[in-house]
Amino acid sequence: MQNLLTLSDLTAKDIESVFAVTKDLKTKYRDGLREPLLPGRVMALLFEKQSLRTRVSFETAMINLGGGSLFLGRDVGWGERESIADFGQVLSEYCDVIVCRTNSHEKVVELARHCSCSVVNGLTDLAHPCQALADLYTLREIHGDLQGLKLAFVGDANNVARSLALACGKLGLRFTLASPPGYRFDQAFLDLLAKECPDAGIEQTADAEAAVRDASAVYTDVWTSMGQEEERAERERAFRSFRVDAPLMSAARPDASFLHCLPARRGEEVVADVIDGPQSAVIQQAGNRLHLQKGLLAWLLGAKT
Ligand code: CP
Ligand code: NVA
Repeated sequence: MQNLLTLSDLTAKDIESVFAVTKDLKTKYRDGLREPLLPGRVMALLFEKQSLRTRVSFETAMINLGGGSLFLGRDVGWGERESIADFGQVLSEYCDVIVCRTNSHEKVVELARHCSCSVVNGLTDLAHPCQALADLYTLREIHGDLQGLKLAFVGDANNVARSLALACGKLGLRFTLASPPGYRFDQAFLDLLAKECPDAGIEQTADAEAAVRDASAVYTDVWTSMGQEEERAERERAFRSFRVDAPLMSAARPDASFLHCLPARRGEEVVADVIDGPQSAVIQQAGNRLHLQKGLLAWLLGAKT
């Protein structure tokens, strides 16, 4: 039984297998075929933070694949009414896969420890693996071979940045983080990257222009993630000079894509001219959450493709 709690759970070969299923299913979807690879399978969504893309793309994915989906709200008492151990063991009796979005990464790790079905991280404070998979799938669609390409992440070393760094390391892309001191990867994460992706080219710098030089993808995310709202003013001050604008995009490769996991705050981490401009791939990127997660569900649950 396979979980996806962080990208440490997948090898490069696993990711390529998920991408291959994704490509096949996306092509069929475009041709009007919604192949029912998972009839009768049930996915539970356990979310304690807001979501548009992750929730709707997972639910739609399971519907397209012929299975069922249950969105579990506060009334199931997750983390409140009974122990995570009891909760996970019982929910596993009913479901084939649980997608969980929680405030603390430890909670999803503990849930998975007690589940006998697959558990997928739908975002925690530390990781957003499904997002990073859809992002690199999108870059492959746009730029072809990913080997040696550079992705520059301008902003906070948050959940999205961490998952992207791991995904890039596994698939052979160079990754550069541009952020102010104090908002960079910690040593424990750098050690993990070095161990899992010894050939990965990871850099961290305060110079956003140097970071995007030669980049094929410029990525940003909100400066203040869900759960950090009380730090908003401090973060706005710290990240003021790390906004993605037209001059910064012009320092990247002329064919560079602009990516953002969304939701975005126009005028903060990115200006409207960039996110709504010709280099932006954010809608294709969001659309691919559906296709990638179909590939992921089919692969995780061992569907015959
Ligand atoms: N990008 C992303 O995960 O969006 P949601 O928070 O809307 O799910
Ligand atoms: N870093 C953001 C991503 C939202 C999809 C957050 O955690 O709020």
